[in-house]
Amino acid sequence: MSDNNRQFKIQDTVPVRTIGIETERENLDFQHRPPHRYAHVWFAPRPTPVSRLAVLASVLPDSIDDDTLLNWMGFKPSNRNPDNSIAEHVRNKRQTKDQRSGSEHEHYGYRKIWRYTPSDTEKDEIHNSLENTWDGELPTVLDATAGGGSIPLESIRYGLPTIANELNPVPSVVLKALLEYTRTDVDLTDDIIKWGNEIDSRAGEELQEFFPERDNEKIQTYLFAHRVTCPDCGLKVPLASNWWLDRNRGGGKAVRPKVNDESDYVDFDIVDIPEDVERDEFNPTDGTISYSKMTCPRCHVTLGSDSLKEKLQEDDFDYQLYAIYYDTYTSGGCEFRKPDEKDFEAFEKATEFADSDVDISTSLTESIPSGEKTTELHRNGMTEWRDLFTPRQLLTHHTYWQKFEEVKQEIHDEYPEQQAESILVYLCLVADKALDYNSRMAQWDASQPKIGHMFAGSDFAFSWSFVEHNLIVEDHGYDWMLSNIAEDVYGGVRDLLENSDAPSEVLQGDASDLSIDDGDVDAVVLDPPYYGMIMYAELGDYFYVWMKKYLKDIIPDFFNSTLTEKEDEAVANKSRFEGVESDELSKKELARREYERKMTSIFDEMYRVLNPSGIFTMMFTHKETEAWDTLTKALIESGFVVTASHPVNTENQHRVQQAGRNSADSTILLSSEKRDLQRSEPTLWEEVKKDTQARAQEKVKQLESQEAEFTKVDMMLASFGPTLEIFTKNYPVVDDTGEEVSPQTALDEARGAVRDYLIEQYLNEGIRDVDAKTEWYVLAWFVFEAQRFPYDEGRRLAVGVGENVDSLKKENRMWRTKSGDIVLRPHGDRVQDVNKASENRSGRKPVDPDSLSFSTALDKVHAAMHIYDAKGATEAWNWMNDRNCGSDPSFRATLEGLLRVLPHDHDDWKLARDLEAGETGEMLDLDLDSSIFNNDEDDEDRQGSLNDF
Ligand SMILES: C[S@@+](CC[C@H](N)C(=O)[O-])C[C@H]1O[C@@H](n2cnc3c(N)ncnc32)[C@H](O)[C@@H]1O
Ligand SMILES: [Zn+2]
Repeated sequence: MSDNNRQFKIQDTVPVRTIGIETERENLDFQHRPPHRYAHVWFAPRPTPVSRLAVLASVLPDSIDDDTLLNWMGFKPSNRNPDNSIAEHVRNKRQTKDQRSGSEHEHYGYRKIWRYTPSDTEKDEIHNSLENTWDGELPTVLDATAGGGSIPLESIRYGLPTIANELNPVPSVVLKALLEYTRTDVDLTDDIIKWGNEIDSRAGEELQEFFPERDNEKIQTYLFAHRVTCPDCGLKVPLASNWWLDRNRGGGKAVRPKVNDESDYVDFDIVDIPEDVERDEFNPTDGTISYSKMTCPRCHVTLGSDSLKEKLQEDDFDYQLYAIYYDTYTSGGCEFRKPDEKDFEAFEKATEFADSDVDISTSLTESIPSGEKTTELHRNGMTEWRDLFTPRQLLTHHTYWQKFEEVKQEIHDEYPEQQAESILVYLCLVADKALDYNSRMAQWDASQPKIGHMFAGSDFAFSWSFVEHNLIVEDHGYDWMLSNIAEDVYGGVRDLLENSDAPSEVLQGDASDLSIDDGDVDAVVLDPPYYGMIMYAELGDYFYVWMKKYLKDIIPDFFNSTLTEKEDEAVANKSRFEGVESDELSKKELARREYERKMTSIFDEMYRVLNPSGIFTMMFTHKETEAWDTLTKALIESGFVVTASHPVNTENQHRVQQAGRNSADSTILLSSEKRDLQRSEPTLWEEVKKDTQARAQEKVKQLESQEAEFTKVDMMLASFGPTLEIFTKNYPVVDDTGEEVSPQTALDEARGAVRDYLIEQYLNEGIRDVDAKTEWYVLAWFVFEAQRFPYDEGRRLAVGVGENVDSLKKENRMWRTKSGDIVLRPHGDRVQDVNKASENRSGRKPVDPDSLSFSTALDKVHAAMHIYDAKGATEAWNWMNDRNCGSDPSFRATLEGLLRVLPHDHDDWKLARDLEAGETGEMLDLDLDSSIFNNDEDDEDRQGSLNDF
């Protein structure tokens, strides 16, 4: 159905590595994010480079080369050697960035591209090219799940007619604020500030008595701990996992609990901590909570997590204020102090006030539904949204809202309707920012030190200690948030959009039912929810209940239900199937089907609104084959054929390695066109299979030639795109008995082909000839580049080598489970202690080092490591000689494999290296290239990147 003459840039190659590098630049600079990122908490925000690439490459013709595209995207290095392409320049600069002398900006020769908006002449040039491609018109771009708005923002900045749709009212308000209210002639920055100041000063007056200050002191933050009574000795135990206040300056500062027999109250001292605190008698890292268990600092009785949660659920707890962080008027520096009577009294007074005030005590009583993420709240005794606040926090937020209501009428009286609406909505965003920093779940960040916000992740992570932000304080409270929202967000986004006259529209509703006419959209750029990763609506309710108070008379359509709409949300949420699962259909499977059904109907709708020769580009960031399978089925059902795919690195490799995860998030851009809905003749799987293998390997080679830094898992994912191209083009695919083949079969084939290629390139071939169990163990290290990885991925790998992953655990003890993941066992977990008599050895360890034969090559190598470790080189030589290790190809291949795949700081790697050296090494006589041992000091950098193997 698609117009074969028209090919888009995204269907050709795109400079993925350059985009990855620029993404890293944007992500690493926490101080200077694009302005819309400060508007509101929303989940999974997209960085500018990938959003801009997805929009531009989807609509520009494939005749545009990489340099032109990058130039138009804002990569305009002033210091480029004309012999180099822009992509080469950026890669070179990335490689030398640590040795640069000037600023990062000077080094690269251009500012971060989010700052770049095309000039009028450049926009004309781009529009010319677009009009030639799109029959004389500019293409209309739709993002139907627009969230925080990164994609439509880029589309408008390049002057394209844009439609942004979103289901959830919370980001929908943000979309209106960013994409509509900023695009007027009148600049309202000063007005937002004026009215915000009015609210702040009225609220401040009323709240002052509850936040007393000493002279010369501006209190920024109150540090609290939840507190329970010790069941044994009656001590009122403040709960915290550590007592750090500030770890920034040398050793740092902490509070030190003082416990005695006379009083049940725990007092604190603020103490300086020397750098060698580990050896000091008090270590602030030892709080009263460790691994969710409380230990009473007086009688040392412990209370398990369940008992603690029970206390929270039964309201059998209170709060203890233990430190205050303040700023001085004179010196400007920040200090900590102990709270005094006045501070305690004020908190008490606020509590009494909040409890007795009819409005406050009946405010925010919406129940928290139990869901996948909100169950955590129930466990901690929070069943209504008001429970997420201490009484004083509730009083504060309530008072600010009341003052907002007071000025609302005055604003309506003074401004035309649209302007009044803009000012009020922006003031609501200030309130939401305050909510993020002021709840029982906001945390203290001692590493800075500063207040941390509650939604650092995409969940309701409970912490025993928390902070209260003083909103009425000058310079750091509401006024700071106000200037951030008014100047940085409103003003900043205005600046970004100032140059654009593109028509744009914000819709709120289900992406599967849009009020757009058939065929009216030319390019869909979609960043949909990823399976079960984020429960947007469950999390969004925290803001929704407040936003409804603020805005229900202003944007009534968004706020006509008690909580956010969850039925239509396209996520795989197991908790929605509580009680309806059966033996045949688990909650997980029901949730998967529901997600597939919803994505199919969203794709159906994309098919309907898309112009017959339009393009549909989707971003997808999921590693599990299951999610891909689901998504592909949905795409096929809706009538799309995949025509291109590009993996883009969206996370900093180094950070990922430090966080101990097995791979970075790379996003796949998957482009599709409309297929003729007439079912064509089936194609035989045998034919498709060959093509799949070849194209998968081709893709990896292409990425290698671009010096893309992907982990192996990402390389495999990258092969999914071409696989789906072949699969959807040949759909339906059948085997020789006529049975339809699922996309999953093709994806597994591609995965296998890439794995084979990578092994051939980077691992010793001999590893293919060892026993399958050993092969699995070595390949798991090789592929996942980490000791821990998802069970399902390990299972697939086992199927690939013809093994059962569960028996590798039960019978061979090659791995153990941790929170559903696989953790590979090192030699120490598998080999019995040779220094102990047989009857005293651990029966849980399967490998007997005294044995002369072993059931797997890995067992033999692990046993040799143990002998070397326990008895030294000479004994190891004897042991190996008795067991013919020197002439045992499996032993040699396994040892070599482990040397190649284990991280160099792993004990097993060091032992493998020892075995390969000296006398034992002479016996083995492995022919290894020295690169295996080089650059040990750079290990951390090495592990993430294929190029270093
Ligand atoms: C991955 S996020 C988009 C993030 C966005 N690109 C950004 O940069 O902020 C996916 C969004 O889809 C929304 N969503 C979920 N189900 C939807 C549906 N049925 N219709 C429209 N939007 C939906 C979620 O609320 C969420 O905001
Ligand atoms: Zn006790």
